[in-house]
Amino acid sequence: MDAPRLIELPRITDPRGNLTFVEANEHVPFDIKRVYYLYDVPGGATRGGHAHKALQQMIIAVAGSFRVLLDDGRREQEFLLNRSYIGLYVPTMMWRELEDFSSGSVCLVLASLPYDEADYYRGRDEFRRALNGG
Ligand code: TYD
Repeated sequence: MDAPRLIELPRITDPRGNLTFVEANEHVPFDIKRVYYLYDVPGGATRGGHAHKALQQMIIAVAGSFRVLLDDGRREQEFLLNRSYIGLYVPTMMWRELEDFSSGSVCLVLASLPYDEADYYRGRDEFRRALNGG
């Protein structure tokens, strides 16, 4: 199974401001079928709290910072995202929670599939059962 990892994205630095870009299958290992973003997240809120059967994602803190907790059933990992040019690749079958959003932060998510509620495991027990073969 593919592992979660931080991917450094291209950075064009410029006195007028920096620029980062992401190309599908070049800087992320999938076709980008959907983009969404979280913003105006109140202090203390937790997002995520689910896993996906087929969806792969890249999560980028385009502004501010937050933590991402990942659990594949064998290993729990925590990532602090606080750079606009670092993406966290999240493979399939990964329980995720996002927390500690700084004020004004924006969480950009590049996704390999369109939104489909049937792709979600919304319960941690259901997810664990699926990992153990259903
Ligand atoms: P959810 O995936 O639970 O949010 P998060 O993981 O960021 O905490 O989605 C919250 C709601 O938004 C849920 O009702 C489904 C809806 N939604 C869409 O309609 N389209 C999307 O692309 C996403 C990500 C969510």
